[in-house]
Parts: sequence; C-alpha cells; structure tokens
Amino acid sequence: MEQILALVGLLSCLMMSTAVESAKCNLEGQWKNDLGSNMTISSVDSNGQFAGTYLTAVSVTNKTIVKSPLIGFQQEKDSPTFGFTVKWKFSDSITVFAGQCFISETGQPILQAIWLLRSESDDIKDNWKQTRVGNNIFQPM
Ligand code: BTN
Repeated sequence: MEQILALVGLLSCLMMSTAVESAKCNLEGQWKNDLGSNMTISSVDSNGQFAGTYLTAVSVTNKTIVKSPLIGFQQEKDSPTFGFTVKWKFSDSITVFAGQCFISETGQPILQAIWLLRSESDDIKDNWKQTRVGNNIFQPM
C-alpha cells in the first residue's frame, strides 16, 4: 500500500511539473496586435535580450510604412515582463513598449503591453504635445 501511495505521489509530482512547464510563455515568434500590426521576435538569449522587427498597421505620419527594428529585454520567468524599443525607419519617432507575456485560460500565449510613442519636434515649446500613450494586445499569428 505504501509503495502504491509513493508511486501515486511521484506520478502527480511529474504531472504537475509537466503542467507548469507547458504554461511557460515564450516571446519568440510572430505576433499580431489589435491594430493589425505584425511583430517578429527572434531568439531570446541567455540574458533575456532579444531583437526583432515591427510592421505597424498605422502611423501618425503620412509616410510610407516600412518594417522597423526593435530591441528588448525580458525577465526569465514563466510569465515574463518585458520591454522593447522600436526605432521607426520611416519616421523620426521612437516607441517603447512594456508589458507581460501570459498564458490565457485557453492555453494561448498573449502579450499585454502599454506603449509610449514619442514624436520629434523642431521647437522645444511643442515638447508637451509630442508623446502619445496607449496599449496593445498581441496574439500569435
Ligand atoms: C509613427 O507614426 O511615427 C511611427 C509608427 C507608430 C505606430 C504606433 S506605435 C504604438 C501603436 N501600436 C502599433 O502597433 N502601432 C502604433
């Protein structure tokens, strides 16, 4: 009887560790957000650093939108917080994103992020109106 109980305990430990393992949220891959923007994050290194590309679906400018580079960091956790910066190729602005990667109740990874978009100004008097703020939700493509 004791042996059976020990076996059951061992099996449940194994099942729990597998469940925790499968709940790990991974930033690597292709994502689409609620605005229709596409983002690709390449491999995250051992320091939590990553790079990628961002193709925004919208812009403050009238310029032709092109794919732009991003660089960021994530914490090494199962539901990691992260931050990254996009240096727009077609605009003089910069966007910083900060958020967290979650596994939803349906088992889908989801990125919840807020952003600050800083536009450039020629005049310091316009500094006060050069920053927009918002949030985006990213889902795997
Ligand atoms: C610009 O218009 O100067 C650059 C493009 C900004 C796109 C913003 S960044 C925050 C928001 N989320 C997106 O996916 N696109 C917009």
